Amino acid sequence: MTYLTVYTDGPAPETLLRTEDQAEIATSLKEIGVRLRHWEIVDGLDGATQDEVLAAYRDQVAAVVAEEGYTFVDVAQLGPDAPADVAAAARAKFLNEHTHDDDEVRFFVSGSGIFYLHVDGKVHAVFCEPGDLLSVPKQTTHWFDMGTRPHFTAIRFFHDDDGWVGDFTGDSISSRIPDYDTIAAGR
Ligand SMILES: [Fe+2]
Repeated sequence: MTYLTVYTDGPAPETLLRTEDQAEIATSLKEIGVRLRHWEIVDGLDGATQDEVLAAYRDQVAAVVAEEGYTFVDVAQLGPDAPADVAAAARAKFLNEHTHDDDEVRFFVSGSGIFYLHVDGKVHAVFCEPGDLLSVPKQTTHWFDMGTRPHFTAIRFFHDDDGWVGDFTGDSISSRIPDYDTIAAGR
């Protein structure tokens, strides 16, 4: 189940909203052009291979690909047994605010991660969990935190091979907003 926290984006961010109400979350995200959908969860895929994950969600993936014209789908995975330096490097990659030329579309198969969407003076921190399909439109300023002990399996959808290269804004806002570990601990 998704968990949403909304913050102001000033020097000392304030919490504007904290909710697990799925209808309220969908409405709040729709206002900033971000789509959140839910698929029925297939259990037992934690640690599964990419082929097993894609086979388990074959029909749902095919429907989204047909609908949105994605040309490439893969599975990103990081487990608790990953070496600390690998986990830290993976976390650091998209921890600063950036945009992409392509939509960023992720379905969470297992585990969790937070997408922070910085739009119209607010930051929507979307804590994604199994069953969540989040579509962040291209050029939306955002960052992603998987926490200091990353644990997730996610299906990724792309329109082209390099659409997900990050264009970093240089804004330090991600250091002012509570991180994954803080938000996860406060639930
Ligand atoms: Fe991104």
